[in-house]
Amino acid sequence: MLKVKKAIIPAAGLGTRFLPATKTVPKEMLTIVDAPIILYVVEEAVQAGIEDIVLIAGRGKHAIEDFFDTSYELEDKLLKDGKENLLERVTRIREKANIISIRQKQALGLGHAVLCGLPIIGNEPFAVLLGDEITMGFHGEPNVTSQLVKSFEETGTSTISVMKVEDKDVSKYGIAEVEETSRGFFKVTSLMEKPKPSETKSRWALPGRYVFDNSIMDILQSAKPTLNGEIQLTDSMKVLCQSKGLNAMTFTAERYDAGDKLGYLQANIELALQNPALGSELKNYILQLAQRLK
Ligand code: UTP
Repeated sequence: MLKVKKAIIPAAGLGTRFLPATKTVPKEMLTIVDAPIILYVVEEAVQAGIEDIVLIAGRGKHAIEDFFDTSYELEDKLLKDGKENLLERVTRIREKANIISIRQKQALGLGHAVLCGLPIIGNEPFAVLLGDEITMGFHGEPNVTSQLVKSFEETGTSTISVMKVEDKDVSKYGIAEVEETSRGFFKVTSLMEKPKPSETKSRWALPGRYVFDNSIMDILQSAKPTLNGEIQLTDSMKVLCQSKGLNAMTFTAERYDAGDKLGYLQANIELALQNPALGSELKNYILQLAQRLK
C-alpha cells in the first residue's frame, strides 16, 4: 500500500483579491485570530501524517519561508512574555515535518506551481493544499487532507475533495463532473476550470485539497497553458480522470477561502469562537450585534 508522506503547498500566486495588503505582506501571512494562514495549512498537512512539506513561494513571499525558520531573539521574547502557545505550535511543526521551500520564478499557473515540487516529490504520491484556504475539522473530525489520504491509501486512486456550490459561484472554481459510486464518493468523468453555469450541469466545485498518484507529474510535464495563459492543474486532472482514474469525495470539515475578503472574515470569526481565551466574549458580542442589526 502506497503511503502519502509528502505534500505541496502552492503559495506563489499574486493574491490580487487582497490588494493593497498583499503588496507588502503575502496573503498567506495575514493573521487568522493569532496565527498566519499558512500555519493552519501546514498544521493540517502534519495532522494528516505528512512528513515532507514543499512550500512553493515566489516573488515577495520571503516572509512565508522565514516564518518556519528559527528566530532566537523572537523565541526568547515569546518565552519571556509567557506566549509559549504560538511558539509551541511552530516548534511542533518543525519537529514533525521538514519544511522545504522551492521558488516558482514566474506565476505560470497552479499546474506549474505543483510541477515545481517535482525535485522533492520524486516518484511518490503527494497531497496538494492551497496555501490560502483553511479547512478545519471541529469536535474531533478529521481534516480534509486526512480524509483524502485515507481514501487514497485504501483505493490507490488519486482523490480530490468536492463541495456543492450555488449557480452564481460556479465560475469561481474548477468544476468536476462526477458519477456517484457510494454515498459521498464519486468517480470524476470530466473537469472544467471556471466554467459559466450554463456550460455544465455539475455544481461540484473543487476546494484546494487533493491527493495525487505520481502520474499527474508526467501529465503536468507536457501540459500547455490554457485559461488566462496559465498551466491549469484542472486540465491535467482531466487527463488523469480519463487515464488512471480520479475519485472525488465530499467532506465534513469546515472550509474557509481565507484568500477572499469575506472568507477571511468568516475564518476569523469562526476560529475565534473556538478559541478558549476569546470564544465566550466574542459570542456575547456577536449576540449583542445581532440584536442591533435586527
Ligand atoms: P489563485 O489564482 O486562486 O490565487 O491560485 P492567486 O494567484 O493568489 O490570486 P487571487 O487570490 O485569486 O487574486 C490558487 C492557488 O495557487 C497558487 C496561489 O498562491 C493560490 O494558493 N498559485 C497560483 C501558485 O502558487 N502559482 C501560480 O502561478 C498560480
